[in-house]
Amino acid sequence: MRTSTVFGTVIGLAMTAVMLAAAQDRAAADGVYTQEQAKRGDAAYQRACASCHMPDLSGGGFAPALGEETFAARWRGEPVGDLFTIVKATMPANEPQSLRDDEYADIVAFLLSRNGYPAGEKQLSSNVDELKHVLFRKS
Ligand code: HEC
Repeated sequence: MRTSTVFGTVIGLAMTAVMLAAAQDRAAADGVYTQEQAKRGDAAYQRACASCHMPDLSGGGFAPALGEETFAARWRGEPVGDLFTIVKATMPANEPQSLRDDEYADIVAFLLSRNGYPAGEKQLSSNVDELKHVLFRKS
């Protein structure tokens, strides 16, 4: 093979890799959780989170609001996986990691539902490798 052909092949492979990586990303607006899951998440949120973040997500004291512009500005463009990881590692602030993974996923689904992201057919996973390809984007 001539050098230029090898070079062309390398560029081609690199471009394919970039395209595959981009294709894996999904927007949170594509319906990445189910209605049923958000309902379970609502119950878990009210039990484990509402005492500090308030039942309506408005926040209070040191606990930030988890809705509206505060939430939108904090997470815009970020992976849902980061929210899952932070919440699991640090929340509830008085008892981190005290819930099951599927309960944390339910609560994240509830937060999505309350922040204008529509429900879909498939449950939000609690697998962080999958969740890091779901981005807080409207499209
Ligand atoms: C005992 C009070 C308390 C409880 C209960 C609590 N939080 Fe928090 N939360 C806080 C405080 C204080 C902060 C701000 C300091 C921090 O980020 O550690 C916070 C921050 C957060 C943040 C912002 C993190 C960031 O990096 O922007 C999220 C999201 C969050 N909490 C979600 C939850 C969820 C979901 C639950 C229930 C599973 C929960 N919290 C339960 C007190 C609480």
